[in-house]
Amino acid sequence: MTAIQHYLQFTDLNASQYAYLFDRATLIKMKFKAYQKHQPLVDRTLAMIFEKASTRTRVSFEAGMYQLGGSVVHLTTGDSQLGRAEPIEDSARVISRMVDLVMIRTFEQAKIERFAEFSRVPVINGLTNEFHPCQILADIFTYIEHRGSIQGKTVAWVGDGNNMANTWLQAAELLDFKVNVSTPSGYEVNEKMASITGKISPNHYQTFSNPMDACRGADLVTADVWTSMGYEAENEVRKQAFAAWRVTADMMAVAKPTALFMHCLPAHRGEEVDADVIDGAQSVVWDEAENRMHVQKALMEFLLLGRLS
Ligand code: CP
Ligand code: NVA
Repeated sequence: MTAIQHYLQFTDLNASQYAYLFDRATLIKMKFKAYQKHQPLVDRTLAMIFEKASTRTRVSFEAGMYQLGGSVVHLTTGDSQLGRAEPIEDSARVISRMVDLVMIRTFEQAKIERFAEFSRVPVINGLTNEFHPCQILADIFTYIEHRGSIQGKTVAWVGDGNNMANTWLQAAELLDFKVNVSTPSGYEVNEKMASITGKISPNHYQTFSNPMDACRGADLVTADVWTSMGYEAENEVRKQAFAAWRVTADMMAVAKPTALFMHCLPAHRGEEVDADVIDGAQSVVWDEAENRMHVQKALMEFLLLGRLS
């Protein structure tokens, strides 16, 4: 039996598979815009399991699966036995006998890895504490749409060394670009966990204590909430610690004149980003959000059907 292709971390696919996915997402998006049907997943079912809140991930996967001709089952911790301590292994065995694909948003990465181990069908990471691969897939697709290949480019990460930052580092190693990271002290990226090899080359990762320096000469500036889901108890402490890690027009001004601004959303204007940046001319956050749906349609098609010509 061939191994099931899951998508639990960005490193689960290689550069050639990403090149295929980006091409495929372009085609799928073009057809969507032209109101042309694209239904390779008729009679297939996606189960979506949410243990944390979501707007974009829920809508993009649900609308996307229907557009592909399939259907969706939506579960949350509160309305399923997952919230009443049914073992994750048992949930995986049962759910994966009834559906073709599972998307999970949960807390520890170890939990989704365990689900995948016992699943008969591909499992997609819809965000964990450690990683958010579908978002980076959409972000890189958005960069390519606006500016061409990301290879050799520099991405500035301003803020928390969180799931998004970890995934950017994985993508930088895999697709050969660089991430300049500036976090407050105590909120650094866990390089060992994020990296494929445990140690990321300076060609792909550089740290800066001053966020302005991380943005200097960057092709893309990106930020995320100061407090991720699951860390709400730290909110007040984080507000103090992150005060200087807000993306401002001055930071955008030291990036390349062609630099884009991205944010996975939801955003807090006046916290991690100023309104004139996120609502300004260099911001592509709405394309970025929309592209979640197009790239995930390409991903679901790929996981179930492989490469199509
Ligand atoms: N960016 C993102 O994953 O958004 P949601 O939390 O709304 O799904
Ligand atoms: N880092 C954020 C991303 C939200 C899409 C979180 O985990 O809450």
